[in-house]
Amino acid sequence: MNHTLTSLPVRLRRNRKTKSIRRLLQETTLSPADLIAPFFLIEGSNKKIPIDRMPGIERISLDVLLKEASWLHERGVQSICLFPVINPSLKTNEAEEAWNANGLLACAIKTLKRELPDLCIMADVALDPFTLHGHDGLVNENGEILNDETVDCLVRMSLMQANAGVDFVAPSDMMDGRVAAIRRALDQQGYEHTGILAYSAKYASALYAPFREALNVQLQFGDKKTYQMDPANVREALLEAELDEQEGADILMVKPATLYLDVIAKLRQQTKKTIAAYHVSGEYAMVMAAHELGYLHAPSVFYETLLSIKRAGADLIFTYAIKQALTEIER
Ligand code: PBG
Repeated sequence: MNHTLTSLPVRLRRNRKTKSIRRLLQETTLSPADLIAPFFLIEGSNKKIPIDRMPGIERISLDVLLKEASWLHERGVQSICLFPVINPSLKTNEAEEAWNANGLLACAIKTLKRELPDLCIMADVALDPFTLHGHDGLVNENGEILNDETVDCLVRMSLMQANAGVDFVAPSDMMDGRVAAIRRALDQQGYEHTGILAYSAKYASALYAPFREALNVQLQFGDKKTYQMDPANVREALLEAELDEQEGADILMVKPATLYLDVIAKLRQQTKKTIAAYHVSGEYAMVMAAHELGYLHAPSVFYETLLSIKRAGADLIFTYAIKQALTEIER
């Protein structure tokens, strides 16, 4: 047969011919050390409580968490992030439980550091698991979220976590000036080696709904739009990240991840700092729901998703899909 294409000097398909060539030429790779596992922690022992809207993810007690964290660490995962599920009787308007030095979170951090000293431990810094109203900050009688008063609480919370031995505090609240205040307090108290992973560009997203079920947090009024960012904005995200960097953040985060790949890519151009992205509960839940309907294969979708988040410019990814991702990485 005579083909019209007798000689074609550029044939990009040569570079896709075999699995080994494809691996050789891969521009982006995903490895276990890129991934951070979020955990929902509950009181008690030997407890696992499923989360309806997050199939495959459970709220677990510390003994179970230790086993899971150790399993992940053996497979190359280097960090976990803790989210405590707070007993409703401990919630108040002032969120005092957030800095309880003998509370669920403090005990978990201490035990994890003792049992798995080489694992990097992060903990979320925000008031929503601890407030009756479910907002991330203190609220005045007009329903306004108070910035500076909230920052004082976040500082206390960060000091408690640093004292318990956390490697990074991760403020997820979006109050102004919190990174500077936390950095200053940590340094003054001798915790200059405790890092700050700042949720720098955290959007007011509808994708956090399953997470709020996991933590039993129901917003009693309003929404989070006076502190979390408008999804319409990208220059503002770059400004938030720039300020957090100036204030002393060690790692900058964009959240959610997949709908905000442009934000990650633009931040990559702006900063030399490490960028983290949070592949959030809703991003996990949508894929799992489709998987359960037989519409797609969740592990493959997760692998492609996480790879794309890295390709956009993220160095680290918080993800609930960590087990599926590890299986795909090992294949
Ligand atoms: C707390 C916090 C939230 C998430 C992480 N930290 C919820 C929120 O801001 O409403 C969401 C994570 C997820 O959806 O997986 N401030």
